[in-house]
Amino acid sequence: MISMERVSTGINGLDEMLGGGVPRNHCVAVIGSFGTGKTTMGLHFMNEGMRNGERGIFITLEEDEDAIVADAESYGMGLREYVDSGKLVILKLEPTDARNTIRRVQSELPRFIEEFGAQRIVIDSISLLNMLYDNDAEKRTNLFNLSQLIKQTGATCMMTAEVRDDNPHASRDGLIVYTMDGVVSLRYDEDRERGEVGLSLRIVKMRRVKHDRRIKPYSITDAGIKVHAGADIY
Ligand SMILES: Nc1ncnc2c1ncn2[C@@H]1O[C@H](COP(=O)(O)OP(=O)(O)OP(=O)(O)O)[C@@H](O)[C@H]1O
Ligand SMILES: [Mg+2]
Repeated sequence: MISMERVSTGINGLDEMLGGGVPRNHCVAVIGSFGTGKTTMGLHFMNEGMRNGERGIFITLEEDEDAIVADAESYGMGLREYVDSGKLVILKLEPTDARNTIRRVQSELPRFIEEFGAQRIVIDSISLLNMLYDNDAEKRTNLFNLSQLIKQTGATCMMTAEVRDDNPHASRDGLIVYTMDGVVSLRYDEDRERGEVGLSLRIVKMRRVKHDRRIKPYSITDAGIKVHAGADIY
């Protein structure tokens, strides 16, 4: 078997759980409910690429360029210099202007992604992007087309997605977990007795990779996400 070339996520413990990182040219979803650190994980992934001299596109439907740069800054990641030098493009798509945004996603985005030559692409969040489409068939087509397009360019992609409230391991639009090559699930665990909320992570799937399946605790600090790969919680 040909060993897969790996791309570091920028998060030590997670790379360890993956046996080195995400396979190059794969599309990985980070799923979790609000505030679990999905955007932060996307920032780590992009920052790591920048540190390696790669080019990247960060597509955001929530925050504008300044807010994304400020988020990264709060974790000690300086993304501004890469934006200024043209290595990083932070692209804000408007989730409320469905018609216009769909048009941009279908007509301008493919050419832009091809021409820019990014090694890494982050979409934060694919759930918001998908909300622009009326029905499941259109959502599925969009998701499939977008991930195919990205993979054809040779880029490695991380998409964030929100989870359903009734099942924290399934993305709100259930298709994502099937379409993506890999899924990392982030969740809160409430310990009512102790009055504590812990964060835990698991790799639900990662095609073509022998990965750790154990649930691992992680924390969010001034330095971003720290996965405690050496610790067990269950
Ligand atoms: N310096 C810090 N120290 C500790 N925790 C922090 C720090 N900065 C942010 N956080 C935590 O991380 C959370 C934000 O993470 P992030 O924005 O990546 O989550 P998200 O899953 O993208 O959320 P959303 O669903 O709102 O987009 C904050 O709500 C806060 O709990
Ligand atoms: Mg977010």
